Amino acid sequence: MGELRGTHVPVLLERCLELLAPALDRGDRTVHVDATLGLAGHAEAVLERHPRTVLIGLDRDTEALAHARVRLARFADRVHLEHAVYDELPEVLDRLGYPAIDGILFDLGVSSLQLDAPDRGFAYAQDAPLDMRMDQTRGVTAEEVVNSYPHPDLARVLRVYGEEKFAVRVASAILRERERARITSSARLAELVRESIPAAARRTGGHPAKRTFQALRIEVNKELAALETALPAALDKLTVGGRMVVLSYHSLEDRLTKAALADRVRSKGPVDLPVELPGSAPTFRLLSRGAELPGEEEVAANPRAASVRLRAAERIDPEAEQQGRADRERSRRRVRAMHQPGSADPRPVPGEGQGRTKRGREDER
Ligand SMILES: C[S@@+](CC[C@H](N)C(=O)[O-])C[C@H]1O[C@@H](n2cnc3c(N)ncnc32)[C@H](O)[C@@H]1O
Repeated sequence: MGELRGTHVPVLLERCLELLAPALDRGDRTVHVDATLGLAGHAEAVLERHPRTVLIGLDRDTEALAHARVRLARFADRVHLEHAVYDELPEVLDRLGYPAIDGILFDLGVSSLQLDAPDRGFAYAQDAPLDMRMDQTRGVTAEEVVNSYPHPDLARVLRVYGEEKFAVRVASAILRERERARITSSARLAELVRESIPAAARRTGGHPAKRTFQALRIEVNKELAALETALPAALDKLTVGGRMVVLSYHSLEDRLTKAALADRVRSKGPVDLPVELPGSAPTFRLLSRGAELPGEEEVAANPRAASVRLRAAERIDPEAEQQGRADRERSRRRVRAMHQPGSADPRPVPGEGQGRTKRGREDER
């Protein structure tokens, strides 16, 4: 198995490493999960930077795992590579005997290995059997989807997952064609899509088949369902101080990521209660302001980074956080009092006896 190192540039690599470093630099041995190992570009850099970190790499694609194994051979004594869908992370960790983790990266979507492979059917620009399964050992292929889904289901897949404005027209063209002959090749499908999109619309937004191919890939691999389960499960496994970084490449992935993080960074207590109830305080803090976008240089060097959105968060200890804020407030007041003799601030410090107010917490975000 040859290495494919040169063909894949890890997206936002330095930013990912910078965000993960505080979580992986702690203690004797830390555990990092690469939930989408691919060709192991990010994983290799993590192992190089953190000599005491154990890496657990997951991928549902056996071919990607084989390449990653070669690339990471020199780190074999602290690497576990697992053929798994990322929503199986809790079972994988149980099996390997790691109850918790310090870092996790999701670099979603397909790898260059999959996109560029002439025989996997992901690319509209190359003729290949319509497969599109990331895991070729199981599941339905794109050929089965395009030749068997009823019209409304096909149109919904194209509209929702591909954000295809002409979803109904494309679905109708597919149904007409499959009555004539089974659609088996990516080139035939790309041609059908091109023909069914009005000429004026073909002139903008890249190749007309791009959205249909994205939609079919998401459907075939049940990508969003896996992500929706995987994100909360992964957040649950992080230790305090542990960090998650997610790189999304389309709005549906980014929306799921945003929602999963929002659920952990906000209070679960009643809005009108001035203090946090036990168990209601936020358990994570965001490390990114909204979704971070790539810089121009990154996109110029790596066109696949063009659509990336990065979000990251760190697990916090709600009680320590509350205590820390109260301590900082107390020392701020002490300093103020020292500069204004005789004007000691009589107000109670939030968190002292009565807990930090929710109003205060919201102002801090
Ligand atoms: C964009 S690539 C990752 C590239 C990698 N970060 C690198 O530096 O080489 C995404 C990888 O995630 C895998 N993948 C996508 N969805 C997955 C899922 N639900 N479970 C496990 N692996 C998945 C794909 O097979 C692909 O190899």
